[in-house]
Amino acid sequence: MKILKITPWTIGCATDSEDTLDFRESVFSQGNGYMGVRGYAPEGEKKHGFERSTFLSGFFEYIKPGTTDMVNQPDFSVFRIALNGSDVSAYTRTGYEETLNLKDGTFTRRYIAADEQGRRTKVETIRFLSMDNVHTAAVRLRVTPENYDGELMLETGIDGGVVNLPISDDQLTQNVEVAQIWGPIARHSSIKAGGLTAETAYSKRTVSMEYRLDDHGGGYAWLPVLDKAFAGEKAVIPVQAGHTYTIDKLVAVYSYRDGTAPSQQAAHTADVCRQRGFDGMLEDTAKAWEALWRTADVEMEAPDDWQGAVRYNIFQLIQTDPRSDPYASIGARGLMHGRYKGCYFWDTEIFMLPMFLHTDPQAAKNLLLYRYHTLKDAVDSAKGFSLPGARYPWMASDTGYEQCGTWDTGCCEIHITADIAYAVGRYLELTGDDEFFRDCAAEMLIQTARYWTERFTYDPVEDRYNLLFVKGPDEYCGVTVNNLYTVWLACENLKAARDAVTRMQKEYPQEWKALAEKLAFRPEEPAAWAERMDKAVRRYDEGRRLWIQDDTFEKLEPLNPADYKEDDIPLYHKISYDRLQRYQVLKQADVLMLMAMCPGDFTMEQKQAAWAYYEPKTLHDSTLSFGIHALMAARVEQREAAERYFEKSLFLDLQDVMKNTAREGIHTAALGATWQALIFGFAGLWIDSDGITCTPCLPKQIRKMRFHFAYLGRRYEVRIDEKGAVVEALEE
Ligand code: BGC
Repeated sequence: MKILKITPWTIGCATDSEDTLDFRESVFSQGNGYMGVRGYAPEGEKKHGFERSTFLSGFFEYIKPGTTDMVNQPDFSVFRIALNGSDVSAYTRTGYEETLNLKDGTFTRRYIAADEQGRRTKVETIRFLSMDNVHTAAVRLRVTPENYDGELMLETGIDGGVVNLPISDDQLTQNVEVAQIWGPIARHSSIKAGGLTAETAYSKRTVSMEYRLDDHGGGYAWLPVLDKAFAGEKAVIPVQAGHTYTIDKLVAVYSYRDGTAPSQQAAHTADVCRQRGFDGMLEDTAKAWEALWRTADVEMEAPDDWQGAVRYNIFQLIQTDPRSDPYASIGARGLMHGRYKGCYFWDTEIFMLPMFLHTDPQAAKNLLLYRYHTLKDAVDSAKGFSLPGARYPWMASDTGYEQCGTWDTGCCEIHITADIAYAVGRYLELTGDDEFFRDCAAEMLIQTARYWTERFTYDPVEDRYNLLFVKGPDEYCGVTVNNLYTVWLACENLKAARDAVTRMQKEYPQEWKALAEKLAFRPEEPAAWAERMDKAVRRYDEGRRLWIQDDTFEKLEPLNPADYKEDDIPLYHKISYDRLQRYQVLKQADVLMLMAMCPGDFTMEQKQAAWAYYEPKTLHDSTLSFGIHALMAARVEQREAAERYFEKSLFLDLQDVMKNTAREGIHTAALGATWQALIFGFAGLWIDSDGITCTPCLPKQIRKMRFHFAYLGRRYEVRIDEKGAVVEALEE
């Protein structure tokens, strides 16, 4: 779907056709890490209460025992407009334009609404969610009757009449039953000010939203509208040809997660917004964005659509990251869609975190702190699986308890625990954050290592440890044995725990005493970890220089993907999941994924052998696959493949590559994979205990590239052109 116009700093669209509406609403999603809204029109029609979605980071509610959903929040964007007695939606629209500005985060819509008598009205809305104060947002409406004098009826406020449409974890099942999450809603409105406090029926979790209206001195006769779940007001405004009527709605949002008295905080902040006004708030958010771009931008001499799409990927990641909140993470569809019930996966630590780690280490730390804060639940969960230590859930929400509803993935895709340990290790390696090591990481590494100790099964005949009943990143491998990716990272986890114990004993004896006591640590534990590290089964075929994905992979029935796959739509729509799992095909990168994450552990020959063997068998039925293949292609010097895969990942949502952006929202892991392909693949940057290396391999579309990264408390700039790379430390 190529309906978007991409410039270096904007994503635009000039069509408002009904069949592209959901797609545009996904692509034009906005957020500030605290809250997110889909790119719907403030004055658009409300067909179902779940379609106009607004989400708050970390705000979940139970929809059945033990299972949560990300809660669709009251809609603060809403404007109802009637021109000369008829709702604006009944008018013919021309000159339609939508623009998402990546520089300041504004989303602008413009069109001319014309009625049968030829009366033309210019309508414009601008919305932003402030990056300066993430509790605030603003919507501006501008209406200009071009050729008539008449009447404009406006109604606005906050609409609590919203519901959830919980989505099944099974990608093939569509739910139609909505869930009424909200219980009582307290509403109030006076002149140009009002708000509501809604409370979830089950857990009594509250949100308070306050609005203030600025009618630019219009002095209109506003009347309160307190209707069912709606708190707002309306005015009938006589309008004259050629005049523009501007109404700003300034909004403040607080929830039970923000401490006591959210309604008072919202009211106070809304008053502050009123003082600052729309333009002042816009100035503040633009400045905040400018600061974010200073560290996160990747500037390229490249076609405009490549530059704009690269920025779009970064922009969406920043928009959906709860940045300064260490109690929430980033969902697989961020704050842009309720798919996967808003849950957090390995997508965060393995796909998205690297960008934050290299550009905003504090944001990366907060993502890891979320895992630290849910460690006690992970310990409790492990007990539920009759295992010691900590078992992180495949799908997590506001707790560390498993949210995945399917047995094979929920119980067997256990690499998530090792992924978190890997991310902790990368964070420590790149930041040298001793405090985080001492206060959080050591405990996380030890508890996760304990889980692996018993998750491996000893085989006395072979004197080896097997990892049974496991599912790797390639979810088409069935439930298998000794998935290389999982075993490798589990062993890394065990090693990191052993090193952490040694380091704690040496560098922090006091703190170690307390931690060892808290965890009832036994001195013999590291030896048990070492034994598993040494004897865990990892299959390697010396003759072929090939690392084997798992014990059953080579027994599967061969399938030529080209015989079945004509496009990028996942094959599980054509072949049943059950059958797919017995074919020798991969859903997404698995051994190659491991090699992308641990480049120093494998030789070039091994990487090339893995590429030659696995790439032709990979279906890329997950959006997580393209970017990692681009990265690996660049590393094994497969330039054509690198470009081809990169383009898929880069434009994944902008061109609706998988044909599900409309119904599922933006794929946040793919955004992160795109960044990794660009920086770790094309720019060839890699930082580990050996320091910084940068060996670029630019595709023909990128002539020059410039970006920043952070390493051990310093900032660096990388400049790449046809002559090679220059890495320079920046003066602070
Ligand atoms: C992928 C997983 C991913 C999940 C959420 C699945 O289709 O196979 O690797 O974590 O989607 O994005």
